[in-house]
Amino acid sequence: MSTTVVAIDGPAGAGKSSVAKAIARKLGFTHVNTGSLYRAVAYALRCAGASLDPVDKKDLEKIKLEYTGSGLLLNGSDPGEALRTPESAAGASLVAKQIAVREFLLEVQRRSADNRWIVMEGRDIGTVIFPDAAVKIFLTASAFERARRRMEQGEVPAGATLEEVQKEIEKRDLQDSTRAVAPLKAADDAVLVDSSELSLDETVDAICAIVAEKRKCER
Ligand code: DC
Repeated sequence: MSTTVVAIDGPAGAGKSSVAKAIARKLGFTHVNTGSLYRAVAYALRCAGASLDPVDKKDLEKIKLEYTGSGLLLNGSDPGEALRTPESAAGASLVAKQIAVREFLLEVQRRSADNRWIVMEGRDIGTVIFPDAAVKIFLTASAFERARRRMEQGEVPAGATLEEVQKEIEKRDLQDSTRAVAPLKAADDAVLVDSSELSLDETVDAICAIVAEKRKCER
């Protein structure tokens, strides 16, 4: 049993990052955002002028990724905002469907736990990376609510309607859950948390209560 990992998986837009960050702060755990690892691989390959699709294993071996208590280091330094650009997001999605990249990042992710409590968010943490995680949460929200939040945060193309954003989210959900490599699905033993009608604080409290219960049982 990997007693020090809280795995939070779920579709894009369910609020994983805000929730995972808040839980880590509240409980004093390290927050590991695995999406940024895929983004960092894409960014590093692009900087090196290497191919993203298909990725060459030799190019991957030159990339050094490490999760310290204070964040991600790419080849020894903080990549900062470079990972949040649309190019890094698009590149991440290209590299994330390749087995060589997923295998490379599997080890990086497992190493980052290193016997300390971590909250790790992603798509396959409870199913592939830490199938023995102490707590597994599958965080979701309705496509309508995720579209509404996206609109509210202005993370949509100019002029897009709510219906269009919702349709796009439903299309991506279908792609993600039916892709051949590491499809998005809840682990059999994950607790499903639907945040459609919950505030951020309510979602964080609900998950912290699940973590507290689990830790109490293990003492
Ligand atoms: O959560 P995000 O937008 O930062 O993720 C970037 C990309 O990486 C996205 O296409 C999904 C993919 N990803 C993945 O396949 N597995 C993970 N554990 C995390 C992210």
